[in-house]
Amino acid sequence: LGKIKIALLGMGTVGTGVWQIVHENKEEILRSCGYEIEVSKILVRDLEKKRNADIPQSLLTTNYEEIVNDKEIEIVVELMGGIEPAKGYIMKAIENKKHVVTANKALIASHGDEIIEKAKEKKVIIQYEASVGGGIPVLQAIKEGLSGNKIQEVMGIVNGTTNYILTKMTKEKVDFETVLKEAQDKGYAEADPTADIEGYDAAHKLTILASLSFGSNVNFDSVYREGITKITPLDIEYADELGYAIKLLAIGKEKDNEMELRVHPTFIPLSHPLAAVGDAFNAVFLKGNAVGELMFYGKGAGDLPTGSAVVGDMISIIKNKCNLADESLKTVDKKPNKSVKPMS
Ligand code: NAP
Ligand code: HSE
Repeated sequence: LGKIKIALLGMGTVGTGVWQIVHENKEEILRSCGYEIEVSKILVRDLEKKRNADIPQSLLTTNYEEIVNDKEIEIVVELMGGIEPAKGYIMKAIENKKHVVTANKALIASHGDEIIEKAKEKKVIIQYEASVGGGIPVLQAIKEGLSGNKIQEVMGIVNGTTNYILTKMTKEKVDFETVLKEAQDKGYAEADPTADIEGYDAAHKLTILASLSFGSNVNFDSVYREGITKITPLDIEYADELGYAIKLLAIGKEKDNEMELRVHPTFIPLSHPLAAVGDAFNAVFLKGNAVGELMFYGKGAGDLPTGSAVVGDMISIIKNKCNLADESLKTVDKKPNKSVKPMS
């Protein structure tokens, strides 16, 4: 049985989700790319920290050199967050001809061009689907399925933490601090939740969405940004009485080579589909000149949804690397027989 060895940099919320998927969905992974994925090393900060009981202590290391110099490791998966040392580690992995997957929107939004350039130079693949929309494969849709379109608009709810907070403050009248703590406990929030509540995380995601959608290098600093910290329970109550929900929206538009990029709390009529997006769900609207309007909806944060996007990226690399893109058709005979439930 063929195995692809990977290393995880980080074993927090997302790392734990990836670990679980790689082990529980072994058969599905094998069926889609023809290989088993083996996590052969995991970089962490603290070797003594209590972790998922399934993870052998022998896989953990605090020494990145052990990973980046290991010739058998083909894919480095960065799930640590922050700019440094994450950026340095990724650049070193690329330098050593390893493919890279990352969920790090802050890094891709601020240094994505440099990293992607380096990956092209070294002829390795970098994937970052989990950086936007958690489990929603919206970046792949923009890069592939919609690539024949001129995208004119991309807009939506792209931060799970703030959507969770606003939903709970509206429905259950829970105060801001309590509900933020809940979002942190559920693993939705960034290490520093200021990134969520002040709109930086949504602005990072809009930077990535707009760069891909409008085919332009978008500078994160050019995105207008306002968070939700000034929203009071009274604002939410008044909005509701007037027939509106308050949502943190990321809005990107392009016309005549000029982009409009903004993140801020917005009144949404209760009849609009975005008003019904609750909990930590995300929704992204896209308007393309050929396809028309599209909406993507799904879990925008958390261990397994985000892990789903990360594992999808690994499989995509394995398929590309082995030039197996069409090979999946040949694995039909490997599929287990499943019976069809008779309809009465
Ligand atoms: P997390 O729970 O805080 O986990 C971070 C992990 O990275 C921990 O295991 C930590 O080690 C390790 N780490 C951090 N700095 C390190 C360093 N300098 N050296 C070695 N290990 C280090 O973070 P997370 O929520 O999983 O998020 C990870 C990344 O995914 C971030 O870029 C985040 O923006 C992105 N993301 C998160 C979500 C989500 O729902 N949480 C969704 C999409 C994308 P220790 O365990 O030893 O402390
Ligand atoms: N902190 C982020 C959020 C994680 O709440 O949306 C998913 O990117």
